[in-house]
Amino acid sequence: MLVASNRGPVSYAVADDGSLRSKRGGGGLVSGLSAIGPESGALWVCSALSDDDREAVRRGVGEDGVRMLDIPAGVHADAYNGIANSVLWFVHHMLYQTPLEPVFDAEFRSKWASYETYNRAFAEALAEEAAEGAAVLVQDYHLTLVPGMLRELRPDLRIGHFSHTPWAPPEYFAMLPDDIARQVLRGMLGADRLGFLTHRWADAFTACCERFAGGLGDTRVGVHGLGADADFLRARSHEADVHERMAALKEEIGEGRRTIVRVDRTELSKNIVRGLLAYRQLLDDRPEWRERVVHVAFAYPSRQDLAVYRDYTAEVQRLAEEINDRYGTPGWRPVVLHVKDDFARSLAAYRLADVALVNPIRDGMNLVAKEVPVVSDAGCALVLSREAGAHEELGEDAITVNPYDVVQTAEALHEALSMRPEDRTERGKRLAAAATALPPARWFLDQLEALRGGTGR
Ligand code: G6P
Repeated sequence: MLVASNRGPVSYAVADDGSLRSKRGGGGLVSGLSAIGPESGALWVCSALSDDDREAVRRGVGEDGVRMLDIPAGVHADAYNGIANSVLWFVHHMLYQTPLEPVFDAEFRSKWASYETYNRAFAEALAEEAAEGAAVLVQDYHLTLVPGMLRELRPDLRIGHFSHTPWAPPEYFAMLPDDIARQVLRGMLGADRLGFLTHRWADAFTACCERFAGGLGDTRVGVHGLGADADFLRARSHEADVHERMAALKEEIGEGRRTIVRVDRTELSKNIVRGLLAYRQLLDDRPEWRERVVHVAFAYPSRQDLAVYRDYTAEVQRLAEEINDRYGTPGWRPVVLHVKDDFARSLAAYRLADVALVNPIRDGMNLVAKEVPVVSDAGCALVLSREAGAHEELGEDAITVNPYDVVQTAEALHEALSMRPEDRTERGKRLAAAATALPPARWFLDQLEALRGGTGR
Protein backbone atom coordinates (compact mmCIF):
# COMPACT_ATOMS: atom_id res chain seq x y z
CA MET A 1 0.00 0.00 0.00
CA LEU A 2 1.20 3.51 -0.80
CA VAL A 3 0.15 6.96 0.35
CA ALA A 4 0.97 10.13 -1.58
CA SER A 5 0.69 13.68 -0.26
CA ASN A 6 2.47 16.98 -0.66
CA ARG A 7 3.36 17.27 3.03
CA GLY A 8 4.77 14.09 4.45
CA PRO A 9 4.98 12.79 8.01
CA VAL A 10 8.52 14.05 8.53
CA SER A 11 10.53 17.23 7.92
CA TYR A 12 14.22 18.04 8.30
CA ALA A 13 16.27 20.91 9.66
CA VAL A 14 20.01 21.38 9.27
CA ALA A 15 21.42 22.08 12.76
CA ASP A 16 24.26 24.52 13.51
CA ASP A 17 26.79 21.67 13.43
CA GLY A 18 25.60 20.73 9.92
CA SER A 19 23.81 17.57 10.99
CA LEU A 20 20.22 16.88 9.99
CA ARG A 21 17.46 16.72 12.59
CA SER A 22 14.15 15.14 11.72
CA LYS A 23 10.77 16.11 13.11
CA ARG A 24 7.62 14.02 12.85
CA GLY A 25 4.27 15.65 12.24
CA GLY A 26 0.82 14.64 13.48
CA GLY A 27 -2.63 14.83 11.95
CA GLY A 28 -5.38 12.45 10.90
CA LEU A 29 -3.43 10.75 8.14
CA VAL A 30 -0.44 9.96 10.36
CA SER A 31 -2.62 8.46 13.08
CA GLY A 32 -4.79 6.70 10.48
CA LEU A 33 -1.82 5.10 8.81
CA SER A 34 -0.54 3.83 12.15
CA ALA A 35 -3.59 1.50 12.14
CA ILE A 36 -2.03 -0.80 9.58
CA GLY A 37 1.24 -1.06 11.51
CA PRO A 38 4.88 -0.98 10.40
CA GLU A 39 4.88 -4.64 9.29
CA SER A 40 2.50 -3.77 6.44
CA GLY A 41 5.41 -2.33 4.47
CA ALA A 42 3.40 0.73 3.50
CA LEU A 43 5.27 3.51 1.71
CA TRP A 44 4.50 7.22 2.03
CA VAL A 45 5.58 9.31 -0.96
CA CYS A 46 5.78 13.05 -0.23
CA SER A 47 7.56 16.17 -1.45
CA ALA A 48 10.61 17.87 -0.01
CA LEU A 49 9.18 21.21 1.16
CA SER A 50 12.27 23.18 2.13
CA ASP A 51 15.95 23.49 1.28
CA ASP A 52 16.72 21.40 4.37
CA ASP A 53 14.35 18.64 3.20
CA ARG A 54 16.03 18.68 -0.22
CA GLU A 55 19.39 18.50 1.49
CA ALA A 56 18.22 15.41 3.39
CA VAL A 57 17.16 13.72 0.15
CA ARG A 58 20.51 14.56 -1.45
CA ARG A 59 22.43 13.16 1.52
CA GLY A 60 20.35 10.01 1.34
CA VAL A 61 18.95 10.63 4.82
CA GLY A 62 15.48 9.22 5.22
CA GLU A 63 13.11 7.12 7.25
CA ASP A 64 11.81 3.65 6.60
CA GLY A 65 8.50 3.81 4.84
CA VAL A 66 8.92 7.37 3.57
CA ARG A 67 10.17 8.45 0.16
CA MET A 68 10.67 12.19 -0.17
CA LEU A 69 10.84 13.62 -3.69
CA ASP A 70 13.52 16.17 -4.46
CA ILE A 71 11.38 18.46 -6.59
CA PRO A 72 13.25 21.59 -7.73
CA ALA A 73 12.45 24.54 -5.45
CA GLY A 74 11.04 26.70 -8.26
CA VAL A 75 8.77 23.97 -9.59
CA HIS A 76 7.51 23.22 -6.11
CA ALA A 77 6.88 26.89 -5.31
CA ASP A 78 4.85 27.38 -8.50
CA ALA A 79 2.88 24.16 -8.01
CA TYR A 80 2.29 24.52 -4.26
CA ASN A 81 1.97 28.28 -3.72
CA GLY A 82 1.10 29.35 -7.26
CA ILE A 83 -1.51 26.72 -8.15
CA ALA A 84 -2.53 24.52 -5.21
CA ASN A 85 -2.78 27.25 -2.56
CA SER A 86 -3.58 30.28 -4.72
CA VAL A 87 -5.93 28.75 -7.27
CA LEU A 88 -7.35 25.34 -6.33
CA TRP A 89 -7.66 26.17 -2.62
CA PHE A 90 -9.31 29.50 -3.50
CA VAL A 91 -11.74 27.85 -5.91
CA HIS A 92 -12.83 25.11 -3.49
CA HIS A 93 -13.17 27.55 -0.58
CA MET A 94 -14.69 30.26 -2.81
CA LEU A 95 -12.24 32.89 -1.58
CA TYR A 96 -11.79 35.15 -4.59
CA GLN A 97 -12.76 38.81 -4.59
CA THR A 98 -14.01 38.38 -8.14
CA PRO A 99 -13.97 41.95 -9.50
CA LEU A 100 -10.17 41.74 -9.67
CA GLU A 101 -9.27 38.08 -9.37
CA PRO A 102 -8.59 35.44 -10.53
CA VAL A 103 -6.78 36.38 -13.73
CA PHE A 104 -5.80 33.38 -15.83
CA ASP A 105 -2.97 34.80 -17.91
CA ALA A 106 0.34 33.57 -19.35
CA GLU A 107 1.91 33.54 -15.89
CA PHE A 108 -0.84 31.24 -14.67
CA ARG A 109 -0.17 28.92 -17.62
CA SER A 110 3.51 28.74 -16.77
CA LYS A 111 2.70 27.86 -13.14
CA TRP A 112 0.23 25.28 -14.34
CA ALA A 113 3.03 23.63 -16.30
CA SER A 114 4.93 23.32 -12.99
CA TYR A 115 1.86 21.80 -11.36
CA GLU A 116 1.84 19.18 -14.13
CA THR A 117 5.57 18.50 -13.68
CA TYR A 118 5.14 18.15 -9.93
CA ASN A 119 2.16 15.78 -10.33
CA ARG A 120 4.13 13.75 -12.88
CA ALA A 121 7.04 13.37 -10.46
CA PHE A 122 4.62 11.80 -7.95
CA ALA A 123 3.00 9.55 -10.56
CA GLU A 124 6.39 8.29 -11.73
CA ALA A 125 7.67 7.63 -8.20
CA LEU A 126 4.49 5.75 -7.32
CA ALA A 127 4.63 3.73 -10.54
CA GLU A 128 8.21 2.79 -9.74
CA GLU A 129 7.56 1.80 -6.10
CA ALA A 130 4.21 0.02 -6.29
CA ALA A 131 4.03 -3.77 -6.34
CA GLU A 132 1.67 -5.51 -8.76
CA GLY A 133 -1.95 -4.69 -7.87
CA ALA A 134 -1.00 -2.45 -4.90
CA ALA A 135 -3.43 0.10 -3.45
CA VAL A 136 -2.38 3.75 -3.77
CA LEU A 137 -4.08 6.45 -1.69
CA VAL A 138 -3.48 9.91 -3.16
CA GLN A 139 -4.30 12.95 -1.01
CA ASP A 140 -5.81 16.29 -1.78
CA TYR A 141 -5.89 19.14 -4.30
CA HIS A 142 -2.11 19.27 -4.67
CA LEU A 143 -2.24 15.96 -6.53
CA THR A 144 -5.41 16.01 -8.66
CA LEU A 145 -3.59 14.91 -11.83
CA VAL A 146 -1.80 11.96 -10.23
CA PRO A 147 -4.61 9.36 -10.50
CA GLY A 148 -4.95 9.87 -14.26
CA MET A 149 -1.19 9.91 -14.88
CA LEU A 150 -0.64 6.86 -12.69
CA ARG A 151 -3.48 4.94 -14.34
CA GLU A 152 -1.68 5.31 -17.69
CA LEU A 153 1.64 4.15 -16.26
CA ARG A 154 0.24 1.32 -14.14
CA PRO A 155 -3.22 0.07 -15.12
CA ASP A 156 -2.87 -2.80 -12.62
CA LEU A 157 -3.02 -0.57 -9.51
CA ARG A 158 -6.01 0.22 -7.29
CA ILE A 159 -6.01 3.99 -7.10
CA GLY A 160 -7.89 6.04 -4.52
CA HIS A 161 -7.92 9.80 -4.02
CA PHE A 162 -9.13 11.64 -0.93
CA SER A 163 -10.08 15.34 -0.75
CA HIS A 164 -9.58 16.95 2.65
CA THR A 165 -11.11 20.19 1.38
CA PRO A 166 -14.57 21.15 0.19
CA TRP A 167 -15.28 20.84 -3.52
CA ALA A 168 -16.54 23.88 -5.41
CA PRO A 169 -20.07 23.93 -6.84
CA PRO A 170 -20.15 23.89 -10.67
CA GLU A 171 -20.94 27.62 -10.98
CA TYR A 172 -17.77 28.48 -9.09
CA PHE A 173 -15.63 25.69 -10.53
CA ALA A 174 -16.52 27.07 -13.97
CA MET A 175 -14.23 30.02 -13.23
CA LEU A 176 -11.24 27.83 -14.13
CA PRO A 177 -10.22 27.88 -17.80
CA ASP A 178 -12.27 25.18 -19.56
CA ASP A 179 -9.32 22.98 -20.47
CA ILE A 180 -7.90 23.20 -16.93
CA ALA A 181 -11.27 22.36 -15.36
CA ARG A 182 -11.52 19.28 -17.58
CA GLN A 183 -7.92 18.30 -16.89
CA VAL A 184 -8.49 18.42 -13.11
CA LEU A 185 -11.65 16.34 -13.31
CA ARG A 186 -10.15 13.80 -15.70
CA GLY A 187 -7.08 13.55 -13.50
CA MET A 188 -9.27 12.74 -10.51
CA LEU A 189 -11.41 10.34 -12.53
CA GLY A 190 -8.30 8.26 -13.23
CA ALA A 191 -8.93 6.88 -9.72
CA ASP A 192 -11.05 3.81 -8.99
CA ARG A 193 -12.54 5.55 -6.02
CA LEU A 194 -12.72 9.12 -4.75
CA GLY A 195 -13.27 9.97 -1.09
CA PHE A 196 -14.74 13.16 0.39
CA LEU A 197 -15.37 14.34 3.94
CA THR A 198 -19.10 15.04 3.51
CA HIS A 199 -21.96 14.32 1.12
CA ARG A 200 -22.08 17.98 0.23
CA TRP A 201 -18.55 17.96 -1.25
CA ALA A 202 -19.07 14.58 -2.93
CA ASP A 203 -22.25 15.88 -4.57
CA ALA A 204 -20.51 19.06 -5.73
CA PHE A 205 -17.78 16.98 -7.34
CA THR A 206 -20.33 14.74 -9.05
CA ALA A 207 -22.19 17.82 -10.33
CA CYS A 208 -18.93 19.24 -11.75
CA CYS A 209 -18.26 15.97 -13.56
CA GLU A 210 -21.75 15.89 -15.00
CA ARG A 211 -21.38 19.42 -16.28
CA PHE A 212 -17.77 19.44 -17.51
CA ALA A 213 -16.59 15.85 -17.98
CA GLY A 214 -19.56 13.85 -19.20
CA GLY A 215 -20.19 12.19 -15.82
CA LEU A 216 -18.24 10.02 -13.39
CA GLY A 217 -17.61 7.09 -15.75
CA ASP A 218 -16.51 4.01 -13.78
CA THR A 219 -15.12 5.94 -10.83
CA ARG A 220 -16.90 5.40 -7.52
CA VAL A 221 -17.41 8.16 -4.97
CA GLY A 222 -17.58 7.63 -1.20
CA VAL A 223 -17.90 9.72 1.96
CA HIS A 224 -15.67 9.28 5.02
CA GLY A 225 -16.15 11.89 7.73
CA LEU A 226 -12.86 11.90 9.62
CA GLY A 227 -13.48 12.09 13.37
CA ALA A 228 -11.40 13.14 16.36
CA ASP A 229 -8.97 10.72 17.99
CA ALA A 230 -10.58 10.56 21.44
CA ASP A 231 -8.08 8.25 23.17
CA PHE A 232 -5.10 10.25 22.05
CA LEU A 233 -6.66 13.63 22.86
CA ARG A 234 -7.93 12.65 26.30
CA ALA A 235 -4.58 11.20 27.32
CA ARG A 236 -2.47 13.96 25.79
CA SER A 237 -4.55 16.75 27.30
CA HIS A 238 -3.82 15.47 30.83
CA GLU A 239 -0.06 15.54 30.56
CA ALA A 240 2.11 17.85 32.65
CA ASP A 241 2.89 20.42 29.96
CA VAL A 242 -0.84 20.96 29.39
CA HIS A 243 -1.35 21.56 33.12
CA GLU A 244 1.39 24.16 33.04
CA ARG A 245 -0.23 25.93 30.08
CA MET A 246 -3.60 25.86 31.81
CA ALA A 247 -2.17 27.63 34.83
CA ALA A 248 -0.59 30.31 32.64
CA LEU A 249 -3.79 30.78 30.62
CA LYS A 250 -5.90 31.09 33.77
CA GLU A 251 -3.65 33.95 34.84
CA GLU A 252 -4.23 35.70 31.53
CA ILE A 253 -7.98 35.13 31.63
CA GLY A 254 -8.57 36.12 35.25
CA GLU A 255 -10.64 34.61 38.03
CA GLY A 256 -14.22 33.51 37.37
CA ARG A 257 -14.51 34.58 33.77
CA ARG A 258 -16.12 32.68 30.88
CA THR A 259 -14.07 31.80 27.83
CA ILE A 260 -14.83 31.80 24.12
CA VAL A 261 -12.09 29.71 22.55
CA ARG A 262 -10.94 29.43 18.95
CA VAL A 263 -7.86 27.66 17.62
CA ASP A 264 -6.97 27.91 13.94
CA ARG A 265 -4.22 28.12 11.45
CA THR A 266 -4.31 31.76 10.32
CA GLU A 267 -6.13 30.76 7.18
CA LEU A 268 -8.33 33.03 5.06
CA SER A 269 -11.16 30.50 5.09
CA LYS A 270 -11.24 30.31 8.91
CA ASN A 271 -12.94 33.71 9.21
CA ILE A 272 -11.00 34.85 12.27
CA VAL A 273 -11.57 38.53 11.49
CA ARG A 274 -15.38 38.22 11.46
CA GLY A 275 -15.08 36.15 14.64
CA LEU A 276 -13.41 39.15 16.31
CA LEU A 277 -16.01 41.50 14.84
CA ALA A 278 -18.76 39.30 16.28
CA TYR A 279 -17.08 39.36 19.69
CA ARG A 280 -16.88 43.15 19.51
CA GLN A 281 -20.57 43.23 18.59
CA LEU A 282 -21.33 41.05 21.60
CA LEU A 283 -19.57 43.51 23.90
CA ASP A 284 -21.64 46.34 22.34
CA ASP A 285 -25.01 44.57 22.28
CA ARG A 286 -24.66 42.81 25.62
CA PRO A 287 -22.56 45.03 27.87
CA GLU A 288 -23.37 42.70 30.79
CA TRP A 289 -20.62 40.42 29.46
CA ARG A 290 -17.92 43.07 29.79
CA GLU A 291 -15.30 42.01 32.33
CA ARG A 292 -17.03 38.61 32.55
CA VAL A 293 -15.79 36.96 29.36
CA VAL A 294 -12.48 36.57 27.51
CA HIS A 295 -12.02 35.61 23.88
CA VAL A 296 -9.07 33.21 23.77
CA ALA A 297 -7.97 33.20 20.12
CA PHE A 298 -5.03 31.16 18.87
CA ALA A 299 -4.15 31.96 15.27
CA TYR A 300 -1.08 30.05 14.21
CA PRO A 301 0.93 31.23 11.17
CA SER A 302 0.25 29.41 7.94
CA ARG A 303 1.35 29.81 4.30
CA GLN A 304 3.27 32.98 5.10
CA ASP A 305 4.89 32.85 1.64
CA LEU A 306 1.65 34.29 0.32
CA ALA A 307 1.12 38.05 0.76
CA VAL A 308 -2.65 37.75 1.34
CA TYR A 309 -1.97 35.42 4.27
CA ARG A 310 0.53 37.86 5.78
CA ASP A 311 -1.95 40.73 5.38
CA TYR A 312 -4.69 38.64 6.93
CA THR A 313 -2.50 37.78 9.93
CA ALA A 314 -1.75 41.48 10.39
CA GLU A 315 -5.46 42.33 10.30
CA VAL A 316 -6.22 39.70 12.96
CA GLN A 317 -3.57 41.25 15.22
CA ARG A 318 -4.68 44.80 14.55
CA LEU A 319 -8.33 44.07 15.32
CA ALA A 320 -7.51 42.16 18.51
CA GLU A 321 -5.47 45.14 19.72
CA GLU A 322 -8.22 47.57 18.77
CA ILE A 323 -10.76 45.62 20.82
CA ASN A 324 -8.40 45.47 23.78
CA ASP A 325 -7.70 49.21 23.59
CA ARG A 326 -11.33 50.15 23.30
CA TYR A 327 -12.94 47.85 25.87
CA GLY A 328 -10.10 46.67 28.11
CA THR A 329 -9.91 47.74 31.77
CA PRO A 330 -6.94 47.54 34.16
CA GLY A 331 -7.97 44.04 35.29
CA TRP A 332 -9.49 42.69 32.06
CA ARG A 333 -8.01 41.99 28.63
CA PRO A 334 -11.00 41.12 26.41
CA VAL A 335 -8.98 39.23 23.76
CA VAL A 336 -6.08 36.93 24.56
CA LEU A 337 -4.44 36.34 21.19
CA HIS A 338 -1.52 33.97 20.66
CA VAL A 339 0.16 33.42 17.31
CA LYS A 340 2.97 31.05 18.24
CA ASP A 341 2.04 27.45 17.51
CA ASP A 342 1.93 25.43 20.74
CA PHE A 343 -0.07 22.19 20.76
CA ALA A 344 -0.02 21.81 24.56
CA ARG A 345 -1.43 25.32 24.94
CA SER A 346 -4.16 24.56 22.37
CA LEU A 347 -5.21 21.55 24.44
CA ALA A 348 -5.14 23.70 27.58
CA ALA A 349 -7.51 26.17 25.90
CA TYR A 350 -9.77 23.30 24.79
CA ARG A 351 -10.00 22.12 28.40
CA LEU A 352 -10.90 25.60 29.64
CA ALA A 353 -13.43 26.34 26.88
CA ASP A 354 -16.95 27.35 27.86
CA VAL A 355 -17.76 28.19 24.25
CA ALA A 356 -15.92 27.06 21.12
CA LEU A 357 -16.18 29.41 18.16
CA VAL A 358 -15.77 27.69 14.78
CA ASN A 359 -17.09 30.01 12.06
CA PRO A 360 -15.26 29.24 8.78
CA ILE A 361 -16.40 30.69 5.48
CA ARG A 362 -16.07 27.16 4.10
CA ASP A 363 -14.14 24.20 5.48
CA GLY A 364 -13.66 20.58 4.42
CA MET A 365 -14.40 19.32 7.93
CA ASN A 366 -12.81 21.40 10.72
CA LEU A 367 -11.39 19.08 13.33
CA VAL A 368 -11.25 21.77 16.02
CA ALA A 369 -15.07 21.64 16.12
CA LYS A 370 -14.74 17.94 16.90
CA GLU A 371 -11.80 18.14 19.27
CA VAL A 372 -12.98 20.82 21.73
CA PRO A 373 -16.14 18.96 22.81
CA VAL A 374 -14.02 15.84 23.47
CA VAL A 375 -11.42 17.64 25.57
CA SER A 376 -13.28 20.46 27.36
CA ASP A 377 -13.48 19.80 31.10
CA ALA A 378 -17.01 21.08 31.67
CA GLY A 379 -18.48 20.31 28.24
CA CYS A 380 -18.57 23.32 25.93
CA ALA A 381 -21.21 24.97 23.83
CA LEU A 382 -20.30 25.02 20.15
CA VAL A 383 -20.99 27.96 17.84
CA LEU A 384 -20.57 26.42 14.42
CA SER A 385 -20.69 27.72 10.86
CA ARG A 386 -23.14 25.95 8.60
CA GLU A 387 -20.40 26.01 5.95
CA ALA A 388 -18.05 23.70 7.89
CA GLY A 389 -18.09 20.05 6.86
CA ALA A 390 -18.42 19.16 10.54
CA HIS A 391 -21.86 20.79 10.52
CA GLU A 392 -23.27 17.76 8.71
CA GLU A 393 -22.53 15.65 11.82
CA LEU A 394 -22.60 18.19 14.68
CA GLY A 395 -25.26 20.67 13.53
CA GLU A 396 -28.03 19.31 15.74
CA ASP A 397 -26.26 20.04 19.02
CA ALA A 398 -24.38 23.16 17.92
CA ILE A 399 -25.60 26.75 17.62
CA THR A 400 -25.51 27.29 13.88
CA VAL A 401 -24.35 30.52 12.26
CA ASN A 402 -24.05 32.04 8.82
CA PRO A 403 -20.32 32.90 8.83
CA TYR A 404 -20.86 36.25 7.08
CA ASP A 405 -23.48 37.44 9.57
CA VAL A 406 -21.59 39.11 12.38
CA VAL A 407 -24.74 40.27 14.23
CA GLN A 408 -26.15 36.75 14.24
CA THR A 409 -22.79 35.33 15.34
CA ALA A 410 -22.71 37.81 18.25
CA GLU A 411 -26.19 36.68 19.28
CA ALA A 412 -25.09 33.03 19.00
CA LEU A 413 -22.16 33.76 21.31
CA HIS A 414 -24.56 35.28 23.82
CA GLU A 415 -26.83 32.25 23.58
CA ALA A 416 -23.86 29.91 24.03
CA LEU A 417 -22.57 31.82 27.05
CA SER A 418 -26.04 31.82 28.59
CA MET A 419 -26.78 28.12 28.06
CA ARG A 420 -28.01 26.32 31.18
CA PRO A 421 -25.26 24.12 32.62
CA GLU A 422 -27.34 20.89 32.35
CA ASP A 423 -28.09 21.72 28.73
CA ARG A 424 -24.50 22.41 27.99
CA THR A 425 -23.34 19.15 29.56
CA GLU A 426 -25.93 17.12 27.68
CA ARG A 427 -25.22 18.75 24.35
CA GLY A 428 -21.49 18.50 25.01
CA LYS A 429 -21.78 14.75 25.51
CA ARG A 430 -23.71 14.30 22.29
CA LEU A 431 -21.24 16.49 20.40
CA ALA A 432 -18.32 14.45 21.72
CA ALA A 433 -20.03 11.19 20.71
CA ALA A 434 -20.74 12.43 17.17
CA ALA A 435 -17.24 13.89 16.91
CA THR A 436 -15.55 10.57 17.63
CA ALA A 437 -17.84 8.30 15.59
CA LEU A 438 -15.14 7.63 12.98
CA PRO A 439 -11.67 7.74 14.57
CA PRO A 440 -8.67 8.18 12.24
CA ALA A 441 -7.70 4.49 12.19
CA ARG A 442 -11.21 3.37 11.20
CA TRP A 443 -11.49 6.24 8.71
CA PHE A 444 -8.33 5.07 7.02
CA LEU A 445 -9.14 1.34 7.03
CA ASP A 446 -12.64 1.96 5.64
CA GLN A 447 -11.15 3.70 2.64
CA LEU A 448 -8.62 0.98 2.08
CA GLU A 449 -11.22 -1.77 2.34
CA ALA A 450 -13.60 0.04 0.01
CA LEU A 451 -10.84 0.53 -2.53
CA ARG A 452 -9.65 -3.07 -2.37
CA GLY A 453 -13.04 -4.72 -2.04
CA GLY A 454 -14.92 -2.74 -4.62
CA THR A 455 -15.59 -3.94 -8.09
CA GLY A 456 -14.89 -1.59 -10.95
CA ARG A 457 -11.98 -1.49 -13.25
C1 G6P B 1 -5.39 21.76 5.71
C2 G6P B 1 -6.36 21.13 4.78
C3 G6P B 1 -5.72 20.03 3.99
C4 G6P B 1 -4.40 20.46 3.39
C5 G6P B 1 -3.52 21.10 4.39
C6 G6P B 1 -2.32 21.67 3.71
O1 G6P B 1 -5.09 20.90 6.75
O2 G6P B 1 -7.48 20.63 5.45
O3 G6P B 1 -6.62 19.74 2.96
O4 G6P B 1 -3.75 19.38 2.79
O5 G6P B 1 -4.21 22.13 5.03
O6 G6P B 1 -1.68 22.52 4.56
P1 G6P B 1 -0.19 22.96 4.26
O7 G6P B 1 0.23 23.63 5.50
O8 G6P B 1 0.55 21.68 4.00
O9 G6P B 1 -0.26 23.84 3.07
